[in-house]
Amino acid sequence: MAGPRAIRILPDSLISQIAAGEVIERPASVVKELLENALDAGATRIDVRLEGGGIRRIVVTDNGCGIDREDLPLALARHATSKIASLMDLQQVATLGFRGEALAAIASVARVSIVSRTAQAEHAWRIEADSGAVEPAAGAVGTRVEVAELFFRTPARRKFLRAENTELAHCVKQVERIAAAHPQVEFNLWHEGRALLALPAATLTARALKLMPEEFAAAHRSVDSRAGAIALIGWVGLPTAARARTDAQYFYVNGRWVRDKVLSHAVRAAYVDVLHRQAQPLYALYLQIDPARVDVNVHPTKSEVRFRDAQAVHQFVLHAVQEALAPAARGVGSAQGAPSGGPIRTVAGAQAALAVQQPVASYLAMLAPATAALPPATADGGADAGQEAHPLGVALAQLAGVYVLAQNRHGLVIVDMHAAHERIVYEKLKRQLQARQVPQQRLLIPQVFAADALDIATAEEHTQTLLAIGLDLKPASPTQLVLRAVPALLAGADGVALARAVLRDLRDFGGARVLTEHVNELLATLACHAAVRAHRRLTLEEMNALLREMEATERADQCNHGRPTWVQLSVADLDRLFMRGR
Ligand SMILES: Nc1ncnc2c1ncn2[C@@H]1O[C@H](COP(=O)(O)OP(=O)(O)OP(=O)(O)O)[C@@H](O)[C@H]1O
Ligand SMILES: [Mg+2]
Repeated sequence: MAGPRAIRILPDSLISQIAAGEVIERPASVVKELLENALDAGATRIDVRLEGGGIRRIVVTDNGCGIDREDLPLALARHATSKIASLMDLQQVATLGFRGEALAAIASVARVSIVSRTAQAEHAWRIEADSGAVEPAAGAVGTRVEVAELFFRTPARRKFLRAENTELAHCVKQVERIAAAHPQVEFNLWHEGRALLALPAATLTARALKLMPEEFAAAHRSVDSRAGAIALIGWVGLPTAARARTDAQYFYVNGRWVRDKVLSHAVRAAYVDVLHRQAQPLYALYLQIDPARVDVNVHPTKSEVRFRDAQAVHQFVLHAVQEALAPAARGVGSAQGAPSGGPIRTVAGAQAALAVQQPVASYLAMLAPATAALPPATADGGADAGQEAHPLGVALAQLAGVYVLAQNRHGLVIVDMHAAHERIVYEKLKRQLQARQVPQQRLLIPQVFAADALDIATAEEHTQTLLAIGLDLKPASPTQLVLRAVPALLAGADGVALARAVLRDLRDFGGARVLTEHVNELLATLACHAAVRAHRRLTLEEMNALLREMEATERADQCNHGRPTWVQLSVADLDRLFMRGR
């Protein structure tokens, strides 16, 4: 095995380029950083031993390249890394780590010691972070990092930790998440000596299917698409295997688990015709892309990325998943659909039924102020007087249950009503939140629903954040949550689905600063649940109300996922379509 690369302190100019911030929030964040280090070191076997849910002790042992004796103090120093050396490296990171910060951050909030040995060394060396002392030690080639008494120096932060069981659950999830993208590596996990996970090296297929819920095995399709320097492989669940929760959705970019709106939206969009809106598809997807085309230096925990060309990636993922689902999707609505089409038809049917039941009233109520100021819409689409005041024009008709057609001074306006509505609600919520005043709608009958330990802990931990965004959501029993109020703007939404989606965001983003650092994502999640369903028939009045709302809304030409909400076809555009010279 090649020896380790030397660890160097990064130059100040580069340090200032790196997304900095809190990286250690709970035991699971320590587990994540240590596993990533072990993987970057080329380990083929990684053992994780936890005590007290990881709060008392976390020990991660790997058989990777080890750390040279003289580099041990540097491993614990801030901004010291062997993984990048220049801005150019930073722009095309191929390793999981690159900031040279994780071990220093952990050592500042816990007692840390490292035992490491390279292949060249005659024996291992041990360093203790607090004293900095290095001494000979026993140990095989590889590295063993021990982290004890998390937050012992900061009792205030320690108080924010949940019950050991909850922290343990987060740790297990973290190991699973990372293991699902590194099947060639063996992972073992023990808690207080009890084996919780044993994952021998396997193929990607075997590893991914083992970690997915049982129902996935019998109801999935493979994805395998390539286009130039970008590839997507993995598995997507058939609509029949969907669930209410989003816990079985894994997306990786170059081996790194990410939570990214562009990607999750693309997958979601591929299911749009075959899956009830509130049902969550199951998937494990792996995107490979030239590291220079994706920025991983966006957020301190690196769970967010930014694509240089988000549109192209969105299209690529959407088509790849659509293609994988296509044989099943063709069953929908076709008279002699394949046998597997049966259950899918049922799901699609349920979706249609639900759309019809959507209370028209709630939508009208929401738009009420604007409805009052409607311009008169005449059959010829005239209303010339109103056109100056109404850049988006006057509604003519609804097309395919999805688009609103309108006429303005330039020609034809086509509005994606779903996207437009989402944007309107998003901006309204944003203003309310900025004013620290999100009006609530108390539910006549509080909704009690089953939830797992993680969700319950999240609701407990974030009660204040939830209240700030208008949700009154609290534990009702050790296995149930109760929802008593929702934001008034979302009064018509499925409250339970909404609550689950928000809990998921809180769980993934975490932290006390979620409302400042992730407010846009949270708002997008909320708005998405208020959106008017596709295929709802709108009256001309409602259509005009929507146009007026759009005009009054900032950035109404972009929905929360970056899709346009409307397009203009000028008369000249139409003339060109018909090759009509004027
Ligand atoms: N398990 C390990 N095996 C070998 N070397 C390691 C291991 N863990 C850490 N190192 C060395 O210590 C250095 C510092 O690790 P640390 O996790 O603090 O930073 P990083 O991985 O470089 O970047 P990041 O802060 O993004 O994780 C690494 O660059 C690597 O050289
Ligand atoms: Mg690291």
